[in-house]
Amino acid sequence: MDEKLQATVSNVHDYWNTHTLGFQYVTDRSIKPGTPEFFAHIRPWMNPYKFPWIMERIDRESKLLKGKHLLEIGCGMGYDSLEFLKRSVHVTATDLTPNAVKMTLQHFEVEGVKAEDVRTANALELPFEDNTFDAVWSNGVLHATGDTRRAIAEARRVLKPGGRAIISHFYRKPSWMYTVNRLGRENIEYKEEDPPVNEFYTDEEVLDFFQGYKVVEAVHEHERLLRARRDGWKAFLYHNILMPTYNNFLPSSVALKYAYKISVTAIKI
Ligand SMILES: C[S@@+](CC[C@H](N)C(=O)[O-])C[C@H]1O[C@@H](n2cnc3c(N)ncnc32)[C@H](O)[C@@H]1O
Repeated sequence: MDEKLQATVSNVHDYWNTHTLGFQYVTDRSIKPGTPEFFAHIRPWMNPYKFPWIMERIDRESKLLKGKHLLEIGCGMGYDSLEFLKRSVHVTATDLTPNAVKMTLQHFEVEGVKAEDVRTANALELPFEDNTFDAVWSNGVLHATGDTRRAIAEARRVLKPGGRAIISHFYRKPSWMYTVNRLGRENIEYKEEDPPVNEFYTDEEVLDFFQGYKVVEAVHEHERLLRARRDGWKAFLYHNILMPTYNNFLPSSVALKYAYKISVTAIKI
């Protein structure tokens, strides 16, 4: 990695190590992080439970991957990996930040599941041999690394030929969230501060990253506005004007065109 990319990764690391995804949804500060109550408290706000299409994709992939080896890149608190483990997939869960790894280990212990490995790893320089995994899963991560093309090439390197890359929730443009983020000057992840990198891409840009893969699915998702755990006047406008108008009056075809996210499943060729 050159110095510029290294500096970006260091900033990304410092942000996420102090903002592990999930803490922004805690409303009861008396709950101790890492306990069963803690993981249950934020669960409804975490990806597989908040977005039904993620759980459906985990279900679909698990049927193909039973007894096989999956690498998760950017596991956060480990909710996605946990669902794969419950479905008899062998999982190596990784994240750039030690705090995410710590939370994931506590989460797996609370749930009584065992991963093959849980460790820090940088998506841009994965510490694994070529052709190691049957699948790579990464949800809401690679567009936030500083070099998306390189991250997707790294995923390909560690996949066995024929292995599946399931890379979900790239941020799209044009999309309703792109407008809210840019025109509305509203942060996406934590209301006080967004990560140093969170790229929005056109569909063409996303698909072009998948060199050396055969793309088997590319779908727009998160086309309707969901409730946000935010308050203040912007949240009031979002919940009471934008959300009902957008969700009730915009035809599905238009909403899908301006969906917030695109998810790609691709096979290493
Ligand atoms: C938006 S969170 C998503 C977490 C998790 N996938 C989920 O959906 O709950 C982004 C995660 O990507 C991780 N991340 C960012 N850059 C990374 C990199 N270069 N390598 C590995 N993980 C990275 C962050 O530490 C953070 O946990």
